[in-house]
Amino acid sequence: MDNRNGVPVVDGREDDSRAEASRSGLSRRQALAAIASAAAAAGMAGGPAAAAPKKPGKPTGPATKTAFIEDLIARMTVDEKVGQLRLISIGPEMPHAKLMEEVAAGRIAGSFNTVIRRDNRPLQEAAVKRSRLKIPLFFAYDVVHGHRTTFPIPLGLAASFDMAVIERMARISAVEACNDGVDMTFAPMVDISHDPRWGRTSEGFGEDPYLVSECARASVHGFQGAAPDKPDTIMAAVKHFALYGAVEGGRDYNTVDMSPLRMHQVYLPPYKAAIDAGAGGVMVALNSVNGIPATSNVWLLQDLLRKQWGFKGVTVSDHGAITELTRHGVARDNREAAKLAIKAGIDLSMADQIYLAELPGLIASGEIKMAELDARVREVLGAKYDLGLFADPFLRMGKPEDDPADVKADSRLHREPAREIARETIVLLENRNQTLPLKKQGTIALIGPLADSGLDILGSWSAQGVPEQAVTVRAGIEKAIEGKARLVTARGSNVIDDQKVVEYLNFLNWDKPEVIQDPRPIETMIEEAVSVANQADVVIAVVGELRGMSHESSSRVSIDMPGSQRRLLQALKATGKPLVIVLMNGRPLAIGWEKDNADALLETWYAGTEGGNAIADVLFGDHNPSAKLPISFPRSVGQIPTYYNALRIGRPYTEGKPGNYTSQYFEEAQGPLYPFGFGLSYSRFTVKDLKLSAAQMKRGEKLTAEATLTNEGSFEGANVVQLYIADPYASIARPVKELKGFQKITLKPGESRVVRFEVGEDQLKFINADLKEVVETGRFDVQIGLDSHDVLVQSFELV
Ligand code: BGC
Repeated sequence: MDNRNGVPVVDGREDDSRAEASRSGLSRRQALAAIASAAAAAGMAGGPAAAAPKKPGKPTGPATKTAFIEDLIARMTVDEKVGQLRLISIGPEMPHAKLMEEVAAGRIAGSFNTVIRRDNRPLQEAAVKRSRLKIPLFFAYDVVHGHRTTFPIPLGLAASFDMAVIERMARISAVEACNDGVDMTFAPMVDISHDPRWGRTSEGFGEDPYLVSECARASVHGFQGAAPDKPDTIMAAVKHFALYGAVEGGRDYNTVDMSPLRMHQVYLPPYKAAIDAGAGGVMVALNSVNGIPATSNVWLLQDLLRKQWGFKGVTVSDHGAITELTRHGVARDNREAAKLAIKAGIDLSMADQIYLAELPGLIASGEIKMAELDARVREVLGAKYDLGLFADPFLRMGKPEDDPADVKADSRLHREPAREIARETIVLLENRNQTLPLKKQGTIALIGPLADSGLDILGSWSAQGVPEQAVTVRAGIEKAIEGKARLVTARGSNVIDDQKVVEYLNFLNWDKPEVIQDPRPIETMIEEAVSVANQADVVIAVVGELRGMSHESSSRVSIDMPGSQRRLLQALKATGKPLVIVLMNGRPLAIGWEKDNADALLETWYAGTEGGNAIADVLFGDHNPSAKLPISFPRSVGQIPTYYNALRIGRPYTEGKPGNYTSQYFEEAQGPLYPFGFGLSYSRFTVKDLKLSAAQMKRGEKLTAEATLTNEGSFEGANVVQLYIADPYASIARPVKELKGFQKITLKPGESRVVRFEVGEDQLKFINADLKEVVETGRFDVQIGLDSHDVLVQSFELV
């Protein structure tokens, strides 16, 4: 995967670098990027010296920021300015000496994918000691769901419906990243997804604008803390701006064509939430938006982002996106691509040479005005200022004597929080006859191709996560039942059977295969699994997707259980043993058979470094699951898109009535297999007595909606009480309901609590046909429930 351990070492010893890169699983693409950067570096001309260099002072606060930066810009040559717009990925093929020279010549703004302090320090030294203006570099990295410790994938984190969990994940990740000298993360990824064929569904927080916006805010607060200029905080660059999650057909990098209404009502709010929370950066999406690539989209980057939203931070292109403007067919050549991108407002050009090659000529010809170039440079220097790098370029890197002897040391991990966080992300989908929690006794069969995979459980953007340090489901169960029960195991099947798919997934990695197939025939493997199951009192089957199937560039044509895994499950079911299915996947799967046949069904996503322990905690009742689906699960690929907050239509399908001439697919049951917000507990929770404090509300006023949550079962546990609001009559067709609040509440057996939500105009407003935010009078239906489907309803009038 791109970012699985993908960290080249740049320490002056090329051979060692290559070996290290190979050991750490550097992706082909990173290496290619590095070669490209090296070639670019080789062809660069030296910048002319302007006025005598002045050493940057130690700025002390925002009051001095503008003056400081303007002074610097006034002293920069064109080449130095262009250098400040270049973000390069460093790879093993980048000759160290040349790289140092480029930095020393002031022609590089920052790097990504270098996260080892002893490698980065000489680069920073070259920047601040040898470059003419001594402008520090910054170091960026994709810290998406963890850094050294890998936490569950974002889709799983969203399932916690617990913003403290998300903030904690981001805080710890930031601390770990800082310890490696990282200054900026390309996260949070807040692209709404309605199409689970899209592999990057795994990387986002699901389908709902309210929930994703909350997750965006919590992530930014966690990464940046009070401010991104501290030794333990990093800058968050929210991505991918904008609408990347709506690529047509769920095919990655495809076009996005969307009505302005949907854009403003559903897809844009999470980016705005991250920016309002203070995100210092924005990564611009690879896709086009209504015909204009985001990278050259003046409306998106100037009018909306800067003017309307007031964003003051730095923008960064996605990987190679400026070059791709020629392939989008909006730029004749690289020169035009550079011109379009800079005019649109792309500050940093990631991993391409276009700014370097084209901007000096464009400035010389007057096609780009110096003021336009300066505007871009100002943002980059501003980000470096906000990161505290002018005050101390080694703020996060620290002193050489404090460098960790072993960067991968287990002591650098945060295992306990990782376990606690992962437990909060596991969704219980079925539990017939109270199959779960299991007792730690007798013989347990653990079967399935994902049961012992340290690689897959990390998920695809696992940063510096090390598969060998991950607790697999097998390891977690073994530890939990040690000395109490017997574990018998069999692989049962591979995840996928198609050799072409194996090759596709293996292509991305440089050094070692991502997928290792068991060469035995499926019949032999199933036979072995059945005989193992027959020895046991209960069967746990760990099945789903390889992590590479839920990743960038991993769009699927089907959301079925891959390969022969369904066949394996059917054979296990036929043994008559209680069957617990543990799902590991990064997108909703069509799991109708599993729903109907599993005695218990757990959605565990990719649960991270401590995933196996967390899953065992849930299986054996050391933790009562409370997570909820942050995305609807369709019954089949044909039902895509399935999302709960769809707009009202003229011929809705109504349960129990004849379906003819209503909106439906006639060969299949209607509605999702599992609705948004769904998730069970080992206890039985009820919500009753929905009351509104008033039947009428005047504009500007608020009312309270309250309901009583009761734990009627025999386990202590938490549940997520969800508030939805429907606006059944308005100037435009409105969603059938929209999430407007949620509270996660822990109750002891028999305990009840009245849960209150405030409802005011904030919860009622929407974007009208003129794209204005409005609140319209009339009836509103307040709904409270434990998922989006099963709710109590009370109405009030806004007058
Ligand atoms: C991805 C981004 C990522 C970047 C750098 C791109 O391919 O789309 O999400 O931040 O690579 O790794």
